[in-house]
Amino acid sequence: MHRFSSRTREDKLLWVLMVCVASLIKGAVGSEDLQLHKPPNIVILLADDLGIGDVGCYGNDTIRTPHIDRLASEGVRLTHHLAAAAMCTPSRAALLTARYPARYGLVADPILPVPVLIQITSPGGIPGDEVTIATALAAANYTTAIVGKWHLGMNCSLWGRGCLGPLRHGFHSFFGLPMSLFQEYADPYPFWTLPADTAVIQVSPWIQNHANSVLMRDGEVVEAPIKLEGFSQRLVAESRRFITEHANSERPFFLFHSFGHVHTPMFTAPHMAGRSKHGRYGDNVEEMDEGVGSLLDTLTQLGLENNTVVYFASDHGGHLEVTDDDGQRIGGHNGRFKGGKRQGGSEGGIRVPGIFRWSGHLPCGVTQHSPTSMMDVLPTLLSLAGLPPLHTLVPRASHKELDGTDISEILQGGAAESQEGRVFLHHCDSAIHAVRLVTGDHVYKMHLARPKWFPGSTQCGWGRGVICSCSGYGLVTDLSSRPELYDLNKDPYEDKQPISPESEEYKVVVKQMREYLEQWKARVKYPPSQLSTLANIIWRPWYQPVCHNC
Ligand SMILES: *[C@@H]1O[C@H](CO)[C@@H](O)[C@H](O)[C@H]1NC(C)=O
Ligand SMILES: *[C@@H]1O[C@H](CO)[C@@H](O)[C@H](O)[C@H]1NC(C)=O
Repeated sequence: MHRFSSRTREDKLLWVLMVCVASLIKGAVGSEDLQLHKPPNIVILLADDLGIGDVGCYGNDTIRTPHIDRLASEGVRLTHHLAAAAMCTPSRAALLTARYPARYGLVADPILPVPVLIQITSPGGIPGDEVTIATALAAANYTTAIVGKWHLGMNCSLWGRGCLGPLRHGFHSFFGLPMSLFQEYADPYPFWTLPADTAVIQVSPWIQNHANSVLMRDGEVVEAPIKLEGFSQRLVAESRRFITEHANSERPFFLFHSFGHVHTPMFTAPHMAGRSKHGRYGDNVEEMDEGVGSLLDTLTQLGLENNTVVYFASDHGGHLEVTDDDGQRIGGHNGRFKGGKRQGGSEGGIRVPGIFRWSGHLPCGVTQHSPTSMMDVLPTLLSLAGLPPLHTLVPRASHKELDGTDISEILQGGAAESQEGRVFLHHCDSAIHAVRLVTGDHVYKMHLARPKWFPGSTQCGWGRGVICSCSGYGLVTDLSSRPELYDLNKDPYEDKQPISPESEEYKVVVKQMREYLEQWKARVKYPPSQLSTLANIIWRPWYQPVCHNC
């Protein structure tokens, strides 16, 4: 299944072996770092909307992602790595807090299903009492920075501009997008154009273009609207500067490089345009990969490979439905997994690439098949870095139950026994659409609901702005009275007939999952949605940050 372009499998193995031996030798030489007891630097590289099928080392043999592939060949590649949501805002919140975002209302409800923050002036975000990876690492004396996309809230009140922004969540500096890239940033719109989008409630494209297309440095707007061409390179240059500046400092650094790519709109620097075999989407993937390479090279040049943990992932699966005005597909590809973005219970929406590299410390060129979650990243990074657990580092968080667990044992190549009995809940907005249970040799997945797919496909139509729904009459198939059950170890792509509801296996497993759900619902009360509010939808100019020097 996992093919590698331009090299035979034997060549590939030899190559991995050479790289690994080299890094072990370097690791031994570099053990001075350890004697100083300085915890390792940490770099998170997060792509936006990138499908697991868009990456060379996950089986794509026509797209070129040599730098992500290199990261995998020098580290641990996870094949069963799961996002906690199939939309940006909730998935990113889960990554940073190690908790289901439904616990703090950062998911839509069925009454007004707006799946993400859609206005820079929206008052929602990660609540101030939640603790992020950055807050934890800042408490451990790291210098912390985010470069790129935030999309996790800025404002909470009129006098509290920026009070939910990255600087309030543990990041010492911020350069990038308070929101996200949106298709509208690329096109000129007259004020009265109606959104082309029918599936999601959306703001006026004019407002989108004029209000949300801002670039910030810390609390200040430094560019509006954003100049798209070369934007990826500008973000990468900023991160390179940060790494270089902090390479030899006493404190370790934490960099969260959150790519704008490969979300729409599809733009690239001139040297990347038309290079890929997959149109403008492919060009975007390859430009993002070039950015990964540039950041990895910086670490190598500064001799930081052996004291820097690097984690790469995508926030969720590719957007299957989206096309440009000419009907060309401009969304990602999720391999053989069914479904995509905004399908929280479908594998294609949440199965993402996930790679950890820490040369000389973690195994090299290794693949792990155990189910893991992006919510595991926070506890795992603390553990790898030899830091105290979150509740010790940040005592005010001691009542916050984490949904992620420390998977460093799995990364170290240990047995996956720690995952025995683990349950993953798969939310689509605030609803639970699927449940996954790890037990013995099985990874069971139970589907309770699923978006209505276009016949013969695993997507909800196609067109500009088209996306699935998590709720709504006629938009979702309710399976809860007779859930579909699969064993992903036997049927990874859910291609075969689901396990028969008449079988003993079905009865036992479904009963166990239903009991788990009942207990969960009794114990964990979800607060009201922060996204399903008029304040999220209506632009409120008095919250709009403006550029004073543009
Ligand atoms: C590789 O990715 C491109 C772009 O998403 C996609 O069109 C193509 O089908 C993928 N190829 C394979 C073998 O997965
Ligand atoms: C951070 O630095 C302070 C002061 O230098 C020190 O007391 C504290 O133990 C450090 N924290 C960690 C987790 O290393």
